[in-house]
Amino acid sequence: MASITEKRLSLHRRIKAQDSRNEALKSQLAGLQHLANVGTVSHMIAHEINNLLTPLKSYASLALNHPDDAVLTEKALQKTAANCERASKVAESLLALADGQTQPEQTSRLDELVEGIFTCLCRDFGKDGISVDIRIPEGLTVRGVPVQIQQVLMNLILNARDAMLPRGGVLSIGATQKADAVEIVVADTGQGIAQTDLDSIFETFFTTKTEKAPAQHSGTGLGLAFCKMIVDRHGGHISVESTPGQGSRFTITLPPS
Ligand SMILES: Nc1ncnc2c1ncn2[C@@H]1O[C@H](COP(=O)(O)OP(=O)(O)OP(=O)(O)O)[C@@H](O)[C@H]1O
Ligand SMILES: [Mg+2]
Repeated sequence: MASITEKRLSLHRRIKAQDSRNEALKSQLAGLQHLANVGTVSHMIAHEINNLLTPLKSYASLALNHPDDAVLTEKALQKTAANCERASKVAESLLALADGQTQPEQTSRLDELVEGIFTCLCRDFGKDGISVDIRIPEGLTVRGVPVQIQQVLMNLILNARDAMLPRGGVLSIGATQKADAVEIVVADTGQGIAQTDLDSIFETFFTTKTEKAPAQHSGTGLGLAFCKMIVDRHGGHISVESTPGQGSRFTITLPPS
């Protein structure tokens, strides 16, 4: 019969073996987590480029379909070139972010950043019965990576538009300088968000846009996850308030510039 000392020794050996197995599993898990993060970030890059490719395609088609209208063709081509440049900046900035590089932050005028977004979006909101109310104090600045902040706002604007189709409504973009932050609000009078979905909307791949109705495109559920990732990296905060049937209001706070 094994003595108590032998039993203890064998128990120690088993615990040690279990410990090293745990360590191996932990490092395997860290490797898998890293791969999952790379996968998610790659999806996000594709998502953001796609946000810019849709209007890019429309501008290019506009130029192709109206070869005799020199003014329209020139304008469409200028917008095509601007969107290409923006897409390459977005790709560069997000790839650097995926590599863990810190991007140079700049102080930018918020009204100019927002204007740049509307230049990139092709479809006129008025055509969808959406009026746009922008109230950004002149000279209000934000600190951050400009293309990343623009992509955050673009996602919120695209979601607001989706939520108001096909009925139309009002898209409001406002900003206030607080004592220790800049607060940006993107609000719509669209369908709103069900109470049960509110906790999930910032999760990757959560989407309710699955219908293939003419006014609805299908979503990937990456827009808001992207917004949260970027706002977090800027040391800010993003939150939402919504009333089903009445609309939604997204608030971003960014540290002062
Ligand atoms: N302004 C809004 N009004 C109503 N619902 C919204 C609004 N913004 C987001 N949502 C809800 O949150 C979900 C997640 O949004 P998110 O932008 O992450 O993905 P998506 O818009 O569905 O797809 P994608 O952005 O990839 O095209 C949406 O499917 C929708 O249910
Ligand atoms: Mg979206």
